[in-house]
Amino acid sequence: MFNTRIKIKTLLATGKPGDQVTVMGWVRTFRNNQFVALNDGSTNNNLQVVVELGLLNEETLKRITTGASLKVTGEVVASVGKGQTIEVKAATLEILGDSDAEKYPLQPKKHSLEFLREKAHLRFRTNTFGAVFRIRHSLAFAVHQFFNQKGFVYLHTPIITASDAEGAGEMFRVTTLPMDGTAPKDAAGNIDYSEDFFGKSTNLTVSGQLEGELGAMAFSEIYTFGPTFRAENSNTTRHLAEFWMIEPEMAFHDIEDNMNLAEEFIQYLIRYAMEHNKEDLEFLDQRLAEEEKQKPQNERAEMGLLEKLNFVINNKFERITYTEAIQILLDSPAYKKKKFKYDVSWGIDMQSEHERYLVEKHFKKPVIVTGYPAKIKAFYMRLNDGCEPGKETVAAMDILAPGIGEIVGGSQREERLDKLEARMKDMHIPAEEMSWYLDTRRFGTVPHAGFGLGFERMVQFVTGMTNIRDVIPFARTPKNCEF
Ligand code: 4AD
Ligand code: MG
Repeated sequence: MFNTRIKIKTLLATGKPGDQVTVMGWVRTFRNNQFVALNDGSTNNNLQVVVELGLLNEETLKRITTGASLKVTGEVVASVGKGQTIEVKAATLEILGDSDAEKYPLQPKKHSLEFLREKAHLRFRTNTFGAVFRIRHSLAFAVHQFFNQKGFVYLHTPIITASDAEGAGEMFRVTTLPMDGTAPKDAAGNIDYSEDFFGKSTNLTVSGQLEGELGAMAFSEIYTFGPTFRAENSNTTRHLAEFWMIEPEMAFHDIEDNMNLAEEFIQYLIRYAMEHNKEDLEFLDQRLAEEEKQKPQNERAEMGLLEKLNFVINNKFERITYTEAIQILLDSPAYKKKKFKYDVSWGIDMQSEHERYLVEKHFKKPVIVTGYPAKIKAFYMRLNDGCEPGKETVAAMDILAPGIGEIVGGSQREERLDKLEARMKDMHIPAEEMSWYLDTRRFGTVPHAGFGLGFERMVQFVTGMTNIRDVIPFARTPKNCEF
């Protein structure tokens, strides 16, 4: 029987000298033919297992190599060594699985993140990725706890859809039609999707929002938390082709309520991780500090990881309008010295360099930007009243975070049927196919709002990892779909 074992985290926290225990895990290091550092993933801390001289034969000792899995029974004893208060004196030691030291890719030394990305199937066994993915788990759990406590209904929106929720056309097609040129064609010579599996053209969802709105029109408040897909060819440290998004949608909420909820949510998630992942965060804080030391002085982050997280939970986010943001950029030394690669003027879709200037250089804290030009935002966002012609804005809000840029995108939704229809027409969105969506505005429409938090960007923010590929187990990015 296996499950009489005690997890190393529990043992290190509660084990007392004299306890008889069974532990299992993977060897991190084996020193002096005597000291095994054993890790089972429950914590970054290894358990020291002491193999006394004469317990094992030469043959077995040779098989205790980095990466091998062990079952150990023995007695808990007080440790005289550095770094731990207790250790286990092995009475029996069984090798569950060998690991050829010559071939095992993870040597007991520091590997680069790039190298570990290629070995993503094994990188969970390193300190850094152990910490990152335990924190990712905690944050996911906290998402559900936050909304559950508030009475939101968790709505499972579909992965395969026939609509483009963001209207940006960055979708992965889903089809069972043959790819060899023999797919049925219509009279005009185009592929006839009425013959396809779903009888129409379908794609992987870019967002669960539209279906989420249907839920909010009945439950008042819902949230989604699932994978979303974007076929944008962005090879950056912040973009994935497959990422997880949390999308709350609330009836009887305006843009102000929306911002308040988003800010409270982000602070809640950070607080949760700080409470439940203290050791892992301390480890990552150290790791980041060492990484920063390698950089030239002027490129170093002003705050350490924990310092930054503490700051964010204890200070209100800055709130500005898009128009104010553009003015700040135009007045900035960076703009005047022509440091920006992309030009700045009212109407632009701010580039990441602009967003980062606002949060990292100007405000030095998270910033919520509202009132974006209608032209650069999705069709469902509510048109602000009383705009100058040609300068129409919508009740959009983006939250920009230091080191990340956009972490949340959201808006108050256009609940007025005539205005929504006009906007859809303008943006060439086929209203006939979206009749189900427009029904929410036909039957009991209400002011409502919602937002999307990119889960990986949130994990990046909390763990301080600079590349988004390092906070999702198996990253999907252009030209890369391993594992
Ligand atoms: O701003 P976006 O595109 O907004 C929506 O999808 C809305 N339907 C949300 C809503 O109002 N319910 O995406 C929301 C967030 C972004 O702020 C970003 O954090 C993340 O999703 N995101 C990505 N994360 C990783 N890789 C990508 N390619 C991402 N695209 C967006
Ligand atoms: Mg956005």
